[in-house]
Amino acid sequence: MPKRRATSTEPLRPEHSVSRTSAHGQSHARFEIRPAYVDDSGALAELSSQLGYPSTRAQLRRRLAKILANPAHAVFIAEAHPRSGDFPLAGWVHAYVERTLESEPTVEIGGLVVEESRRGFGVGRLLMERAERWARRTGCPTLTVRSNVLRTGAHAFYQRLGYRLVKNQRVFRKTLDRGI
Ligand SMILES: CC(C)(COP(=O)(O)OP(=O)(O)OC[C@H]1O[C@@H](n2cnc3c(N)ncnc32)[C@H](O)[C@@H]1OP(=O)(O)O)[C@@H](O)C(=O)NCCC(=O)NCCS
Repeated sequence: MPKRRATSTEPLRPEHSVSRTSAHGQSHARFEIRPAYVDDSGALAELSSQLGYPSTRAQLRRRLAKILANPAHAVFIAEAHPRSGDFPLAGWVHAYVERTLESEPTVEIGGLVVEESRRGFGVGRLLMERAERWARRTGCPTLTVRSNVLRTGAHAFYQRLGYRLVKNQRVFRKTLDRGI
């Protein structure tokens, strides 16, 4: 991917924020991380499509309301300030505590996406740092992310952030007949 390094980094505030300037000096957006609200559903739905999971605003709203009511889940969004361009929402991450009988709890990344025109500016890193801070607060010392084998760019991103590949998996699914 093209390198578009930031030229300056401000102290993180109020949740997490950073100024990002493109290598050509064309973008001066500051990105801030904050918890998501149900009213963000429309923008979250648009970005969900960029992740490869097209969803309507209504679907997103219904899912998000349930997720936000569950303290084992967290959703954070990155916003660009000033709200330049058509898309103020620069990205989102969903993290949740995964509990199983056989392993200690881990925080799973349920989804992460950065708006296409905002990629390469450090937004994904900021979102993951916020998820990691939340994981610490929940008492989980590990984070896990499952990523489609086709997402090679995302794999490089996670490895850059210190994640190491621990296994490859196949995913099986069955849809039950109605009435079961
Ligand atoms: C993966 C994704 C979230 C990364 O977000 P981003 O904001 O572009 O990433 P950042 O700018 O924060 O990059 C952080 C580091 O990862 C590196 N990186 C990011 N994308 C990379 C890529 N495709 N290839 C190699 N390195 C990459 C950056 O160079 C940067 O390294 P540096 O800090 O040493 O310069 C974004 O590309 C995206 O939304 N992709 C589509 C959806 C997706 O695949 N989501 C993950 C699902 S599991």
